[in-house]
Amino acid sequence: MVARLLSLLLTLLSLGQTAVDGYMDAMNLGGNLFLVNRDFAISSAYAPKDLVIPQVKGGSVDTRMRREAAEALEKMFQAAMEESAFQLYAVSGYRSYGKQRAIHNRKVSQVGKKAALRVSAPPGCSEHQLGLAMDLGCKDAMHLTESFGQTLEGIWVAQNCHRFGFIIRYKAEWEDVTGYAYEPWHIRYVGVEHAKRIHDLDIPFEYYVAQLRQAQLALISGKETSP
Ligand code: DAL
Ligand code: ZN
Repeated sequence: MVARLLSLLLTLLSLGQTAVDGYMDAMNLGGNLFLVNRDFAISSAYAPKDLVIPQVKGGSVDTRMRREAAEALEKMFQAAMEESAFQLYAVSGYRSYGKQRAIHNRKVSQVGKKAALRVSAPPGCSEHQLGLAMDLGCKDAMHLTESFGQTLEGIWVAQNCHRFGFIIRYKAEWEDVTGYAYEPWHIRYVGVEHAKRIHDLDIPFEYYVAQLRQAQLALISGKETSP
């Protein structure tokens, strides 16, 4: 982990200050790196202003995403088809605070609070409210089940989504960090550069954001102590 952090720091330092500021701005301002989980909630009032319906199979008002993410999704669906003849389906994209509350409450009434919290974010704690997350399906796994991860389409997504700026957000082995059970169908848009780095590091988004923050602090303290 230390070696990885050092390598990330070196990468950031080698980018030059302008690029580093760009990364840090993106993080500080939220943007594509906005971290949302049960510890970092967003307000009930937040709704992105640039939601669009991606022009993909399954695209509807329920699969809206922020424009940049929607365009990246379109490229990914096209590549899946052109490279491997895989048809992906958009299943669930942007969810308002109210919609997430309804979904979460339904799950709590079905399986109880503890079990619901493993699979469904409480309102304000879902990346879907950012308009940067998409749940995917394919012909043999349309209903957001773990089996999606074993389908050829799901394997393709896991291996390739970073090329289009997406990460697999909830891997099985990260449950203690993310707080959620394995969700091979849930992809999160972070932009191509970050997605590639996160894919290479193979770490949860929580760790990646923490590393960027540490790198930022190191840069700031370096600045303060320099003559
Ligand atoms: N299923 C994911 C964790 C959500 O509800 O946002
Ligand atoms: Zn999801």
